[in-house]
Amino acid sequence: MIEWYDQYARDLPWRISPVFSKKGIKPDPYRVWISEIMLQQTSVKVATPFFLKFIEKWPNILSLHQTSETEVLALWSGLGYYRRARNLKACAEILLREYEGGFPIEEKKLLKLPGIGKYTSAAILTIAFGIPAIVVDGNVERIIARLFGLDGTISKLKPEIRTYMMNVSPSARPGDFAQAMMDLGATICKPLNPECMICPIRDSCKSYKDGTTNIIPRKTKKPIKTFRKGYIYLAVTKSNEIAMIVRPKSGLLGGMMCLPSSEWTEKKYPKNSPPFPGEWVALDQTIRHSFTHFDLELRMMVSSIFSVPNSYILKPFNFSLTEKVPSVMKKALVLGLKYFHF
Ligand code: ADE
Repeated sequence: MIEWYDQYARDLPWRISPVFSKKGIKPDPYRVWISEIMLQQTSVKVATPFFLKFIEKWPNILSLHQTSETEVLALWSGLGYYRRARNLKACAEILLREYEGGFPIEEKKLLKLPGIGKYTSAAILTIAFGIPAIVVDGNVERIIARLFGLDGTISKLKPEIRTYMMNVSPSARPGDFAQAMMDLGATICKPLNPECMICPIRDSCKSYKDGTTNIIPRKTKKPIKTFRKGYIYLAVTKSNEIAMIVRPKSGLLGGMMCLPSSEWTEKKYPKNSPPFPGEWVALDQTIRHSFTHFDLELRMMVSSIFSVPNSYILKPFNFSLTEKVPSVMKKALVLGLKYFHF
């Protein structure tokens, strides 16, 4: 794996390439942390431009600490799972207060930090500090299940996979080994149609030998998503500003700047109750968005207004606003901009 990684490692902006890593050069733990948080639920391809923007704005922990949560959430818009961004801010504060802006290098202490679980603590220890730890993500689970021909769903196999991973992990260059596994999983040992012909560990792979790579690991049945419906309200002033509101901190899209909306209910549409008086009209087109646990359909109501209650924030209605809001709101704003012929 290490020989393969030396030749084929992906060039990623949080990574020290094998040429330098071999000499003992380690990456910046801050960059490792930010990248691992972003990569928890997001692919390398999607996360990379966000990572570059993030690092340009907040190149170190102090600058992250000094910015506001709203700013971090605005950059995070489009990545989803916004709790990650809130945890980053909370974690930065603790790291500065308790660890002089560095990271503790003990799993027990890392696990106490907001947003850092078993996977992320192992990734930080191994990749940033070269301390051997068992880094098991979805890629690793798939590779190990195939390599040893393990029959069962990943959730059943988890303990077994950890043991196998412990047994195959080398003590030299543990960080590069962890990242080699991730690269192999992303580029060769893919979920569908793995490219066994160019796999460096094919000769040791039980699943390749048995011709079972397309059935290992066993698929789990996805839970059926529910479908919710609601109304979203776009109120525009004479000077082309729109009324937005910061959603309550707890709950979905917590703390994010959004258009006002009704509750989102299952089965049928909730009552259409605009947030404040106006000459509300419905647009023909609806907005659809898929969250982790449900799909959402929103009917859009628009109105011209003169003023809004104090709890609303007026924002210039233009395309740059679409970059600072969650994806579902971006869809609503784009539809609204089209309707108002911007
Ligand atoms: N996925 C999660 N962490 C990663 C990393 N450090 N390199 C490549 N892919 C990853």
